[in-house]
Amino acid sequence: MEFSKIFEDFERELAEANSEAQVALVKSRYLGKKGQLSEILKSLGQVSVEKRKTLGPRANEFKLKMQAQVAQKLSLLERERIDRNLAKERIDISLTDSVKAQGAPHGGVHPVSKIQREIEDIFISMGVEVLDGPHVEDDFHNFEALNIPSDHPARDMQDTFWFPDGVHLLRTHTSTIQVRGMMAKKPPFSFVAPGKVFRCERTDAGHEMVFHQMEGMMVDKGLAVSHLIYFINTLLEEIFEKKINTRLRPGFFPFVEPGLELDIECQVCRKKGCSVCKQTGWLELLPCGMVHPRVLEVGGVDPGTYSGFAFGLGLDRLVMMRYGIDDIRHMHSGDLRFIEQFRDF
Ligand code: FA5
Repeated sequence: MEFSKIFEDFERELAEANSEAQVALVKSRYLGKKGQLSEILKSLGQVSVEKRKTLGPRANEFKLKMQAQVAQKLSLLERERIDRNLAKERIDISLTDSVKAQGAPHGGVHPVSKIQREIEDIFISMGVEVLDGPHVEDDFHNFEALNIPSDHPARDMQDTFWFPDGVHLLRTHTSTIQVRGMMAKKPPFSFVAPGKVFRCERTDAGHEMVFHQMEGMMVDKGLAVSHLIYFINTLLEEIFEKKINTRLRPGFFPFVEPGLELDIECQVCRKKGCSVCKQTGWLELLPCGMVHPRVLEVGGVDPGTYSGFAFGLGLDRLVMMRYGIDDIRHMHSGDLRFIEQFRDF
Protein backbone atom coordinates (compact mmCIF):
# COMPACT_ATOMS: atom_id res chain seq x y z
CA MET A 1 0.00 0.00 0.00
CA GLU A 2 2.71 2.45 1.06
CA PHE A 3 4.86 1.27 -1.87
CA SER A 4 2.25 1.91 -4.47
CA LYS A 5 1.63 5.42 -3.11
CA ILE A 6 5.37 6.15 -3.22
CA PHE A 7 5.58 4.73 -6.69
CA GLU A 8 2.65 6.86 -7.86
CA ASP A 9 4.35 10.02 -6.52
CA PHE A 10 7.61 8.96 -8.12
CA GLU A 11 5.97 8.41 -11.51
CA ARG A 12 4.26 11.80 -11.39
CA GLU A 13 7.40 13.66 -10.43
CA LEU A 14 9.40 11.83 -13.05
CA ALA A 15 6.85 12.72 -15.72
CA GLU A 16 7.06 16.39 -14.69
CA ALA A 17 10.88 16.44 -14.82
CA ASN A 18 11.91 17.90 -18.16
CA SER A 19 15.65 18.15 -17.87
CA GLU A 20 18.41 15.73 -17.00
CA ALA A 21 19.11 17.74 -13.83
CA GLN A 22 15.50 17.48 -12.68
CA VAL A 23 15.50 13.72 -13.30
CA ALA A 24 18.64 13.46 -11.17
CA LEU A 25 16.79 15.25 -8.33
CA VAL A 26 13.80 12.89 -8.52
CA LYS A 27 16.17 9.94 -8.60
CA SER A 28 17.96 11.08 -5.48
CA ARG A 29 14.64 11.81 -3.69
CA TYR A 30 13.51 8.21 -4.13
CA LEU A 31 16.55 6.08 -4.81
CA GLY A 32 19.37 8.11 -3.25
CA LYS A 33 21.04 7.17 0.06
CA LYS A 34 18.49 9.20 1.96
CA GLY A 35 15.71 8.58 -0.56
CA GLN A 36 12.29 7.32 0.38
CA LEU A 37 12.85 3.78 -0.83
CA SER A 38 16.23 3.48 0.81
CA GLU A 39 14.68 4.62 4.10
CA ILE A 40 12.12 1.82 3.84
CA LEU A 41 14.80 -0.72 3.00
CA LYS A 42 16.84 0.47 5.96
CA SER A 43 13.84 0.16 8.31
CA LEU A 44 13.32 -3.47 7.34
CA GLY A 45 15.74 -4.41 10.10
CA GLN A 46 13.15 -3.39 12.67
CA VAL A 47 10.21 -5.41 11.35
CA SER A 48 9.38 -9.03 11.97
CA VAL A 49 11.02 -11.75 9.91
CA GLU A 50 7.65 -12.64 8.40
CA LYS A 51 7.00 -9.11 7.20
CA ARG A 52 10.56 -8.70 6.01
CA LYS A 53 10.11 -11.73 3.73
CA THR A 54 7.32 -10.03 1.79
CA LEU A 55 8.38 -6.41 2.15
CA GLY A 56 12.01 -7.01 1.13
CA PRO A 57 11.31 -8.47 -2.33
CA ARG A 58 8.56 -5.87 -2.98
CA ALA A 59 10.86 -3.03 -2.09
CA ASN A 60 13.51 -4.43 -4.42
CA GLU A 61 10.95 -4.91 -7.17
CA PHE A 62 9.95 -1.21 -6.92
CA LYS A 63 13.55 -0.17 -6.77
CA LEU A 64 14.27 -2.00 -10.05
CA LYS A 65 11.16 -0.54 -11.68
CA MET A 66 12.13 2.97 -10.61
CA GLN A 67 15.69 2.55 -11.84
CA ALA A 68 14.39 1.33 -15.20
CA GLN A 69 12.03 4.29 -15.49
CA VAL A 70 14.77 6.78 -14.62
CA ALA A 71 17.05 5.26 -17.29
CA GLN A 72 14.23 5.37 -19.82
CA LYS A 73 13.44 9.01 -19.02
CA LEU A 74 17.12 9.98 -19.29
CA SER A 75 17.49 8.35 -22.68
CA LEU A 76 14.30 10.07 -23.87
CA LEU A 77 15.64 13.46 -22.76
CA GLU A 78 18.97 12.75 -24.42
CA ARG A 79 17.29 11.85 -27.69
CA GLU A 80 15.25 15.06 -27.55
CA ARG A 81 18.42 17.07 -26.93
CA ILE A 82 20.17 15.44 -29.91
CA ASP A 83 17.13 16.09 -32.12
CA ARG A 84 17.09 19.73 -31.06
CA ASN A 85 20.81 20.11 -31.85
CA LEU A 86 20.46 18.38 -35.20
CA ALA A 87 17.60 20.68 -36.15
CA LYS A 88 19.76 23.67 -35.21
CA GLU A 89 22.78 22.41 -37.16
CA ARG A 90 20.84 21.21 -40.18
CA ILE A 91 22.67 21.86 -43.45
CA ASP A 92 20.51 23.16 -46.26
CA ILE A 93 21.84 21.39 -49.33
CA SER A 94 19.88 23.73 -51.60
CA LEU A 95 21.97 26.56 -50.13
CA THR A 96 22.62 28.56 -53.30
CA ASP A 97 18.93 29.04 -54.02
CA SER A 98 17.85 29.68 -50.48
CA VAL A 99 20.66 32.18 -49.90
CA LYS A 100 19.78 33.93 -53.14
CA ALA A 101 16.15 34.01 -52.09
CA GLN A 102 17.08 35.69 -48.82
CA GLY A 103 19.29 38.17 -50.66
CA ALA A 104 22.27 37.10 -48.56
CA PRO A 105 25.71 38.01 -49.96
CA HIS A 106 27.51 35.42 -52.05
CA GLY A 107 30.73 35.48 -54.03
CA GLY A 108 31.32 35.89 -57.72
CA VAL A 109 34.12 35.56 -60.23
CA HIS A 110 36.40 38.61 -60.44
CA PRO A 111 35.99 40.34 -63.83
CA VAL A 112 39.68 39.81 -64.65
CA SER A 113 39.39 36.06 -64.01
CA LYS A 114 36.19 36.01 -65.99
CA ILE A 115 37.68 37.67 -69.07
CA GLN A 116 40.80 35.53 -68.72
CA ARG A 117 38.71 32.34 -68.81
CA GLU A 118 36.67 33.62 -71.75
CA ILE A 119 39.79 34.36 -73.78
CA GLU A 120 41.32 31.01 -72.83
CA ASP A 121 38.15 29.34 -74.19
CA ILE A 122 38.42 31.29 -77.45
CA PHE A 123 42.04 30.18 -77.87
CA ILE A 124 41.40 26.59 -76.85
CA SER A 125 38.68 26.43 -79.54
CA MET A 126 41.34 27.65 -82.01
CA GLY A 127 43.62 24.76 -80.98
CA VAL A 128 45.98 26.98 -78.99
CA GLU A 129 47.49 25.65 -75.73
CA VAL A 130 47.30 27.48 -72.37
CA LEU A 131 50.62 27.63 -70.44
CA ASP A 132 51.53 28.86 -66.97
CA GLY A 133 54.78 30.18 -65.50
CA PRO A 134 56.24 31.29 -62.15
CA HIS A 135 55.76 34.78 -60.64
CA VAL A 136 59.30 34.78 -59.24
CA GLU A 137 61.63 34.71 -62.20
CA ASP A 138 65.30 35.26 -62.91
CA ASP A 139 67.15 37.82 -64.98
CA PHE A 140 67.60 35.32 -67.81
CA HIS A 141 63.90 34.58 -68.46
CA ASN A 142 62.64 38.12 -67.84
CA PHE A 143 65.39 40.02 -69.74
CA GLU A 144 68.46 38.27 -71.13
CA ALA A 145 66.72 35.62 -73.22
CA LEU A 146 64.41 38.34 -74.57
CA ASN A 147 67.30 40.27 -76.04
CA ILE A 148 67.47 42.77 -73.17
CA PRO A 149 71.02 42.58 -71.77
CA SER A 150 71.78 44.28 -68.47
CA ASP A 151 73.19 47.43 -70.08
CA HIS A 152 70.24 47.81 -72.48
CA PRO A 153 68.19 50.99 -71.99
CA ALA A 154 64.98 48.97 -72.58
CA ARG A 155 65.33 47.65 -69.01
CA ASP A 156 64.06 51.01 -67.82
CA MET A 157 60.80 50.48 -69.70
CA GLN A 158 59.66 48.12 -66.97
CA ASP A 159 60.54 49.18 -63.42
CA THR A 160 61.36 45.99 -61.62
CA PHE A 161 60.90 44.57 -58.13
CA TRP A 162 64.25 42.87 -57.58
CA PHE A 163 65.09 40.40 -54.82
CA PRO A 164 68.16 41.30 -52.74
CA ASP A 165 70.28 38.68 -54.59
CA GLY A 166 70.14 40.87 -57.71
CA VAL A 167 69.25 37.87 -59.87
CA HIS A 168 65.66 37.04 -58.97
CA LEU A 169 62.73 39.34 -59.56
CA LEU A 170 58.95 39.46 -59.76
CA ARG A 171 58.24 39.02 -63.45
CA THR A 172 57.48 42.33 -65.14
CA HIS A 173 55.65 40.70 -68.07
CA THR A 174 54.34 37.34 -69.19
CA SER A 175 56.94 37.31 -72.01
CA THR A 176 58.97 35.10 -69.65
CA ILE A 177 56.66 32.28 -70.73
CA GLN A 178 57.66 32.84 -74.37
CA VAL A 179 61.14 31.74 -73.31
CA ARG A 180 59.92 28.81 -71.23
CA GLY A 181 57.46 27.71 -73.96
CA MET A 182 60.05 27.82 -76.76
CA MET A 183 62.53 25.84 -74.70
CA ALA A 184 59.98 23.17 -73.82
CA LYS A 185 58.39 22.70 -77.25
CA LYS A 186 59.26 21.68 -80.77
CA PRO A 187 57.88 23.89 -83.57
CA PRO A 188 55.28 24.32 -84.90
CA PHE A 189 53.48 25.39 -81.71
CA SER A 190 51.10 28.02 -80.43
CA PHE A 191 50.19 28.94 -76.87
CA VAL A 192 48.80 31.68 -74.66
CA ALA A 193 49.94 32.32 -71.09
CA PRO A 194 47.86 34.47 -68.74
CA GLY A 195 48.99 35.67 -65.32
CA LYS A 196 49.90 38.37 -62.81
CA VAL A 197 52.82 40.69 -63.49
CA PHE A 198 54.51 43.20 -61.18
CA ARG A 199 56.04 46.61 -61.77
CA CYS A 200 57.44 49.15 -59.41
CA GLU A 201 55.33 51.95 -60.92
CA ARG A 202 53.45 54.96 -59.68
CA THR A 203 49.75 54.15 -59.95
CA ASP A 204 47.09 56.22 -61.70
CA ALA A 205 43.73 55.60 -63.39
CA GLY A 206 45.36 53.42 -66.04
CA HIS A 207 48.36 51.95 -64.19
CA GLU A 208 48.66 49.46 -61.35
CA MET A 209 51.69 47.84 -59.70
CA VAL A 210 50.15 44.38 -59.95
CA PHE A 211 48.17 43.70 -63.10
CA HIS A 212 47.48 40.91 -65.57
CA GLN A 213 48.72 40.12 -69.01
CA MET A 214 48.10 37.34 -71.47
CA GLU A 215 51.04 36.42 -73.61
CA GLY A 216 50.45 34.79 -76.97
CA MET A 217 52.98 33.10 -79.21
CA MET A 218 52.78 31.23 -82.48
CA VAL A 219 55.76 29.68 -84.25
CA ASP A 220 55.55 27.96 -87.62
CA LYS A 221 57.04 28.04 -91.11
CA GLY A 222 56.15 31.13 -93.16
CA LEU A 223 54.35 33.22 -90.50
CA ALA A 224 54.22 36.96 -91.33
CA VAL A 225 52.82 40.22 -89.90
CA SER A 226 49.58 39.70 -91.86
CA HIS A 227 48.90 36.50 -89.86
CA LEU A 228 49.48 38.41 -86.65
CA ILE A 229 47.05 41.21 -87.57
CA TYR A 230 44.36 38.77 -88.68
CA PHE A 231 44.77 36.75 -85.50
CA ILE A 232 44.48 39.79 -83.21
CA ASN A 233 41.50 41.34 -84.98
CA THR A 234 39.62 38.04 -84.81
CA LEU A 235 40.40 37.83 -81.10
CA LEU A 236 39.15 41.37 -80.36
CA GLU A 237 35.94 40.80 -82.31
CA GLU A 238 35.27 37.64 -80.30
CA ILE A 239 35.93 39.43 -77.02
CA PHE A 240 33.85 42.55 -77.67
CA GLU A 241 31.27 40.77 -79.82
CA LYS A 242 31.35 43.77 -82.18
CA LYS A 243 33.75 45.56 -84.44
CA ILE A 244 36.14 47.73 -82.45
CA ASN A 245 38.17 50.56 -83.93
CA THR A 246 41.86 49.77 -83.59
CA ARG A 247 45.05 51.38 -84.78
CA LEU A 248 48.51 49.97 -85.25
CA ARG A 249 51.64 51.98 -84.55
CA PRO A 250 55.24 50.99 -84.70
CA GLY A 251 56.43 50.01 -81.23
CA PHE A 252 59.79 49.09 -79.81
CA PHE A 253 60.46 45.92 -77.84
CA PRO A 254 63.91 44.32 -78.13
CA PHE A 255 62.36 40.83 -78.48
CA VAL A 256 60.29 41.58 -81.61
CA GLU A 257 61.18 42.94 -85.03
CA PRO A 258 59.17 44.62 -86.35
CA GLY A 259 57.38 45.65 -83.15
CA LEU A 260 53.85 47.06 -83.15
CA GLU A 261 51.49 48.68 -80.70
CA LEU A 262 47.80 47.98 -81.10
CA ASP A 263 45.57 50.65 -79.53
CA ILE A 264 41.82 50.42 -79.25
CA GLU A 265 39.37 53.29 -79.21
CA CYS A 266 38.72 54.19 -75.56
CA GLN A 267 35.41 52.56 -74.64
CA VAL A 268 35.10 54.61 -71.44
CA CYS A 269 34.86 58.04 -73.12
CA ARG A 270 34.18 56.86 -76.71
CA LYS A 271 37.13 58.83 -77.96
CA LYS A 272 36.16 62.11 -76.26
CA GLY A 273 39.18 61.94 -73.94
CA CYS A 274 39.27 60.90 -70.28
CA SER A 275 41.72 60.07 -67.49
CA VAL A 276 41.96 56.41 -68.55
CA CYS A 277 43.19 57.24 -72.08
CA LYS A 278 45.07 60.33 -70.87
CA GLN A 279 42.72 62.48 -73.01
CA THR A 280 43.91 60.84 -76.25
CA GLY A 281 40.80 58.77 -77.03
CA TRP A 282 43.01 55.70 -77.58
CA LEU A 283 44.26 53.07 -75.17
CA GLU A 284 47.41 51.05 -75.53
CA LEU A 285 46.18 47.51 -75.19
CA LEU A 286 48.25 45.05 -77.09
CA PRO A 287 51.88 45.35 -78.04
CA CYS A 288 53.01 42.69 -80.47
CA GLY A 289 55.43 41.83 -83.24
CA MET A 290 57.41 39.21 -85.10
CA VAL A 291 59.69 37.31 -82.72
CA HIS A 292 63.30 38.50 -83.06
CA PRO A 293 65.55 35.82 -84.66
CA ARG A 294 67.96 36.04 -81.72
CA VAL A 295 65.13 35.27 -79.30
CA LEU A 296 64.09 32.26 -81.39
CA GLU A 297 67.66 31.06 -81.34
CA VAL A 298 68.02 31.32 -77.55
CA GLY A 299 64.70 29.43 -77.29
CA GLY A 300 66.11 26.58 -79.40
CA VAL A 301 64.14 27.40 -82.58
CA ASP A 302 65.97 27.68 -85.91
CA PRO A 303 65.20 31.19 -87.27
CA GLY A 304 66.31 30.05 -90.75
CA THR A 305 63.36 27.64 -90.93
CA TYR A 306 60.74 29.10 -88.60
CA SER A 307 59.26 32.49 -87.85
CA GLY A 308 56.83 33.50 -85.15
CA PHE A 309 54.71 36.27 -83.74
CA ALA A 310 53.97 37.22 -80.14
CA PHE A 311 51.73 39.63 -78.27
CA GLY A 312 51.17 40.75 -74.69
CA LEU A 313 47.56 41.64 -73.96
CA GLY A 314 46.80 43.83 -70.91
CA LEU A 315 43.89 42.01 -69.28
CA ASP A 316 42.93 44.67 -66.71
CA ARG A 317 42.70 47.32 -69.41
CA LEU A 318 40.59 44.99 -71.50
CA VAL A 319 38.17 44.59 -68.58
CA MET A 320 38.07 48.38 -68.21
CA MET A 321 37.20 48.79 -71.88
CA ARG A 322 34.57 46.11 -71.86
CA TYR A 323 32.71 47.38 -68.79
CA GLY A 324 33.53 51.09 -69.05
CA ILE A 325 35.52 51.16 -65.77
CA ASP A 326 37.19 54.52 -65.27
CA ASP A 327 39.97 53.59 -62.84
CA ILE A 328 42.14 50.45 -62.79
CA ARG A 329 42.64 50.84 -59.03
CA HIS A 330 39.03 49.72 -58.42
CA MET A 331 40.07 46.30 -59.65
CA HIS A 332 42.04 45.25 -56.55
CA SER A 333 40.62 47.71 -54.06
CA GLY A 334 38.76 44.88 -52.30
CA ASP A 335 35.61 47.04 -52.35
CA LEU A 336 32.78 44.52 -52.54
CA ARG A 337 30.42 47.10 -54.06
CA PHE A 338 32.68 47.12 -57.11
CA ILE A 339 32.98 43.33 -57.41
CA GLU A 340 29.29 42.73 -56.80
CA GLN A 341 28.41 44.60 -59.99
CA PHE A 342 29.84 41.73 -62.04
CA ARG A 343 28.07 38.92 -60.24
CA ASP A 344 25.55 38.26 -62.98
CA PHE A 345 27.57 39.23 -66.03
C1 FA5 B 1 55.10 44.26 -72.45
O1 FA5 B 1 54.96 43.95 -71.27
C2 FA5 B 1 55.59 43.28 -73.46
N1 FA5 B 1 56.07 42.11 -72.80
C3 FA5 B 1 54.46 42.96 -74.42
C4 FA5 B 1 54.85 42.25 -75.66
C5 FA5 B 1 54.69 40.89 -75.75
C6 FA5 B 1 55.38 42.94 -76.75
C7 FA5 B 1 55.06 40.21 -76.90
C8 FA5 B 1 55.71 42.28 -77.91
C9 FA5 B 1 55.55 40.92 -77.96
P1 FA5 B 1 54.07 46.66 -72.12
O2 FA5 B 1 54.98 47.08 -71.06
O3 FA5 B 1 53.65 47.70 -73.09
O4 FA5 B 1 54.67 45.43 -72.96
O5 FA5 B 1 52.76 46.02 -71.47
C10 FA5 B 1 51.81 45.32 -72.21
C11 FA5 B 1 50.39 45.74 -71.86
O6 FA5 B 1 50.20 45.58 -70.46
C12 FA5 B 1 50.09 47.21 -72.13
O7 FA5 B 1 49.65 47.41 -73.43
C13 FA5 B 1 48.96 47.46 -71.14
O8 FA5 B 1 47.73 47.01 -71.66
C14 FA5 B 1 49.35 46.60 -69.97
N2 FA5 B 1 50.07 47.39 -68.95
C15 FA5 B 1 51.35 47.81 -68.97
N3 FA5 B 1 51.64 48.47 -67.83
C16 FA5 B 1 50.53 48.45 -67.08
C17 FA5 B 1 50.19 48.95 -65.76
N4 FA5 B 1 51.07 49.54 -64.99
N5 FA5 B 1 48.93 48.75 -65.31
C18 FA5 B 1 48.04 48.09 -66.09
N6 FA5 B 1 48.28 47.60 -67.28
C19 FA5 B 1 49.51 47.77 -67.79
